[in-house]
Amino acid sequence: MTQQPTPTTTTNRTDDEQPTRDRSMDAESAAVSSVADPVIEARDLDVYYGDDQALRSISMGIPEQGVTALIGPSGCGKSTFLRSINRMNDLIDVARVKGDLYFRGKNVYDEDVDPVALRRKIGMVFQKPNPFPKSIYDNVAYGLRVQGKDDGDLDEKVHTALERAALLDEVEGQLDTSGLDLSGGQQQRLCIARAIAPDPEVILMDEPASALDPVATSKIEDLVEELAEEYTVVIVTHNMQQAARISDKTAVFLTGGRLVEFDDTDKIFENPEHDRVEDYITGKFG
Ligand SMILES: Nc1ncnc2c1ncn2[C@@H]1O[C@H](COP(=O)(O)OP(=O)(O)OP(=O)(O)O)[C@@H](O)[C@H]1O
Ligand SMILES: [Mg+2]
Repeated sequence: MTQQPTPTTTTNRTDDEQPTRDRSMDAESAAVSSVADPVIEARDLDVYYGDDQALRSISMGIPEQGVTALIGPSGCGKSTFLRSINRMNDLIDVARVKGDLYFRGKNVYDEDVDPVALRRKIGMVFQKPNPFPKSIYDNVAYGLRVQGKDDGDLDEKVHTALERAALLDEVEGQLDTSGLDLSGGQQQRLCIARAIAPDPEVILMDEPASALDPVATSKIEDLVEELAEEYTVVIVTHNMQQAARISDKTAVFLTGGRLVEFDDTDKIFENPEHDRVEDYITGKFG
């Protein structure tokens, strides 16, 4: 692991360049300043795919623990932003990132950061459940084995992860059956168990419940709220009610790859600063 969970600053920024706490600034900057000691912080982050710019000068701090929701119309860059946090965009040939993205004060785009190690600290769950074609046990144990953490207490860690993912009761006694034989909702909880087994600090979720029925969705929502007591969860959702129900903070991205408003979820849904945000959340467009 190249970066430690201590707020060391190995970037060449000076204190003068740290985010201002000046409330008198415009709303977008003020949104950034509203988070003290963010665990993740984007500063003037631009992302391009070839010549097309998908994110424009995103600056926001994501607080430790709790749930931060990212909402906005299709194509506004939510997934792109999520992927920029744990450098999944590295895997897209044409993607290029400009600006800074800090994880506990360390720029994840610094040369000495190992993206694979970073992704162990910042795990990810995707829209479509994607268990490996392996047993339930091996799915959950995968990350631990890769890390060489399969000494002695692997069984216990696998059970704990399944329990935290609210799946253990349903699969106990069949851990050697294929993860692909589970229902969609169970597969998604298996993927969550796989993501949390290596004990990450942050979990990124890209529309984790959008392919699921209401019952499975509700289970995922309960789980997200539970996980947020221990982890920092960043979740993309198209479901306004879901964002309102489960998140503490909400970031609204709008067309053109801009972050238009970021604030406490109650404020965004009850009294947003921007008309465009109000129009979006009341369903006038998007
Ligand atoms: N792999 C890629 N290659 C080229 N362009 C891409 C790629 N992924 C995303 N884009 C473009 O970047 C922009 C933002 O896409 P992104 O997937 O981040 O949006 P989104 O907000 O997650 O949308 P949705 O709600 O539909 O998932 C879009 O214009 C999209 O076409
Ligand atoms: Mg997306």
